[in-house]
Amino acid sequence: MHYCLNLCEFIKTFVYIAALIRINKISLLQYRNYTSSVFSLGAPVTCITGPNGSGKTNLLDAVYYLCYTKSYFSAYQQHSARAGTDGFRITGDFLRGGREEAISAKWKAGKKEIFKNDIEYDKITDHIGIYSAVMIAPDDTELINGGSELRRKWVDSILGQVDKTYLELLIRYQRVLLQRNAWLKIQGYRPATDNTELEYYDAQLAADGTYIHRQRLKFIDDLLPLLNDFYHRLSGGHEPLQVTYTSDLAQKPLADWLTQNLQHDLRYQRTLRGIHKDDWDFRLNDMPLKQFGSQGQKKSFLFALKLAQYAYLSKVLGHLPILLLDDIFEKLDQNRMEALLRIIQGPDFGQVILTDTHPERIAQAFGAEAEVGFIHLG
Ligand SMILES: Nc1ncnc2c1ncn2[C@@H]1O[C@H](COP(=O)(O)OP(=O)(O)O)[C@@H](O)[C@H]1O
Ligand SMILES: [Mg+2]
Repeated sequence: MHYCLNLCEFIKTFVYIAALIRINKISLLQYRNYTSSVFSLGAPVTCITGPNGSGKTNLLDAVYYLCYTKSYFSAYQQHSARAGTDGFRITGDFLRGGREEAISAKWKAGKKEIFKNDIEYDKITDHIGIYSAVMIAPDDTELINGGSELRRKWVDSILGQVDKTYLELLIRYQRVLLQRNAWLKIQGYRPATDNTELEYYDAQLAADGTYIHRQRLKFIDDLLPLLNDFYHRLSGGHEPLQVTYTSDLAQKPLADWLTQNLQHDLRYQRTLRGIHKDDWDFRLNDMPLKQFGSQGQKKSFLFALKLAQYAYLSKVLGHLPILLLDDIFEKLDQNRMEALLRIIQGPDFGQVILTDTHPERIAQAFGAEAEVGFIHLG
């Protein structure tokens, strides 16, 4: 009996350690507005404070960069290098499964290198999924209000880190799609004598697109219960919520679309049907959120989406991602803020790093017992 108890304790401790990832320290060299700075992030909750323009968001983004080898906010790597320089370096001291690991990202003259314990990755994509993070930032409402491309990117960023095949097939699909579109354009002035090339593109797109479609379908099934739960905990409401995944592939296989739609594709000189047109329709009370949702409903929905992303990643990856919150207390009312704090301080959430212009607000929100570390910039 005693032995069994000890064993249970041992297993519990082991599971806990395996599930824990944390960044303890970060060093920035020529990253954004930083010249050379080191910050300690060891506390379970770290609050970065300082006036506007002092580099709070940039510091949060540097943590994101170490997890995903790219900025959350900018698609151009050059923007991350301090103005007037042609490179930057970020190093993070991480803890994973009880073991220390140094992750380093170096970008110089257009070339990116990622290191784990000073050993360079052969393939940068091998780093994806090892350290995960979820960012919630002020402009994220675009996920609800913006075009379908943003929602596809969001879903792809999640599935790409839990499923390597998904990531590889998606990259290939996008490449072949560009090739097929280039082929369609050429037909206008230099028609091909046979269809060998087109048949190759179609077969490849159909195979990869079918896999991606299947994984996206399954993802919504997995996400929906999590989303429902978080939405109702955040809003306190009970209105029913729906997410509809719309795809051409729901009507017929992609191979059929590609052959039957060829005349249209030739006229428009691009591939009109496929998983690159997929979208997700968010609804409350059976009304589209984008057109009819109130600001408050959209905010709760967005936070619920991000928390559901967090819960989904932690379930599939087997560790608790780092939660990065950029200026979110600025825009949340008291009730939602309290609900959010209850959720993220629970056992299903790990390290939290956040930014705020008001340190008192954070100290008060988290309460006296919480271990909050502060970084003051400015
Ligand atoms: N590549 C860069 N080189 C130099 N400064 C930069 C670069 N990118 C952003 N900045 C500066 O960083 C500051 C913004 O930092 P940011 O993290 O957004 O501040 P905060 O979140 O505290 O308001 C601005 O002053 C901006 O000019
Ligand atoms: Mg900011």
